[in-house]
Amino acid sequence: MSQLASKVKSDFPIFTNSDLIYLDNASTSQKPQAVLDTINSVYTKSNANVHRALYSLGAKATEEYEESRKKIANFIGADSEKEIIFTSGATESLNLLAYSLSSDLSPEDEILISEMEHHSNIIPWQQLAKRTGAKIKYIPITQNGELDLSESNNLFNSNTKIVSITHVSNVLGTINPIEKISSIAHQCGAIIIIDGAQGAAHKKINVKDLGCDFYAFSGHKMLGPTGSGVLWGKLNLLDQMEPFMSGGEMIDKVTMTSATWNEVPYKFEAGTPNFIQAIGLGAAVEYLESIGMDEITDHEKELTRYALDKLQKIHNIKIHGSGSNRIGVVSFNIENIHPHDLAQFLNEYNIALRVGHHCAQPLLSKLNETATARLSTYLYNDEQDIDKLCTALQEIIGYFK
Ligand SMILES: Cc1ncc(COP(=O)(O)O)c(C=O)c1O
Repeated sequence: MSQLASKVKSDFPIFTNSDLIYLDNASTSQKPQAVLDTINSVYTKSNANVHRALYSLGAKATEEYEESRKKIANFIGADSEKEIIFTSGATESLNLLAYSLSSDLSPEDEILISEMEHHSNIIPWQQLAKRTGAKIKYIPITQNGELDLSESNNLFNSNTKIVSITHVSNVLGTINPIEKISSIAHQCGAIIIIDGAQGAAHKKINVKDLGCDFYAFSGHKMLGPTGSGVLWGKLNLLDQMEPFMSGGEMIDKVTMTSATWNEVPYKFEAGTPNFIQAIGLGAAVEYLESIGMDEITDHEKELTRYALDKLQKIHNIKIHGSGSNRIGVVSFNIENIHPHDLAQFLNEYNIALRVGHHCAQPLLSKLNETATARLSTYLYNDEQDIDKLCTALQEIIGYFK
């Protein structure tokens, strides 16, 4: 088994002097000291608003902010840091797209998403469909919890204008075949957007290899600060798009009656950006790179296999999804125990895992559930965490007998 957790756990202050078993990483991740130090250092040594001030402190903050943009561009294999727009998270990134792509759609157009999407990759498109009259279609999922692309000839057609798909399911852990979907989408002339909220944190990303046009992700799920997020997009597409929010710094010139826009990415960063969080995200990316994304993926895949093996031995457990290409997330139900009761009992063991619909109600209804329990791992989790969870589950099942 990988030794990664024992190597890195002491970097995360939340685990100091604590027997916390944190298995809710798909919701948010814990933060290493390096990220906390960076945030503290900006507040104490270089805090001034970015892109405005002419004094040295403002120049320092701006330099650190723009340096972070370069680190993130490099982290995901982007051609240029101009393609990196800082947002507050994947939700804002996806809303930005659904808003700014509005003018390209008409009633005969179709938006293609899938049955395994998070609400953040459903509702912005439903709202866009309401505004434009465009239709939403769903790629179905198989019994295994994988995307069913067998009917892709019907689903993808010349009316398909936008395809927006999650990289990794936040309920099933399925890793979707993004290269293949990007290629089909482009063959019918559609734009392809990837919701990378559960992808960039756990896998090495190269946006060019994925073949997508946009990739959205959240900083807080990948060791970075809350309120940090990214939208990557191809420069020529970003150039053509209308801004999402308007206000300070996103303009070129403003008169009493009109305004023209700043260049990309600033056109999409209206108002004071969350620059300290963005700088913190740069530190998180540096930390992840110092470990190595491939090592993190291997560790999590191994731990997921270990968790599946152990959970399957528990009586009356139903594990959702059995796809082979999966990572870090396992959802399950135990017969006759409501997931909310389970979570409360697990809390007594200091085990934190999420129960509920995971902001994926259409998927949960497909699974015939209203709620599941979901464990989700990261680089600091190990087999002992899984062992303790399984022992606790057995004891809780015993109380309910
Ligand atoms: C697949 C997926 N997409 C989007 C989001 C939204 O991310 P955020 O709440 O950080 O904006 C999440 C959050 O859990 C997610 O799992």
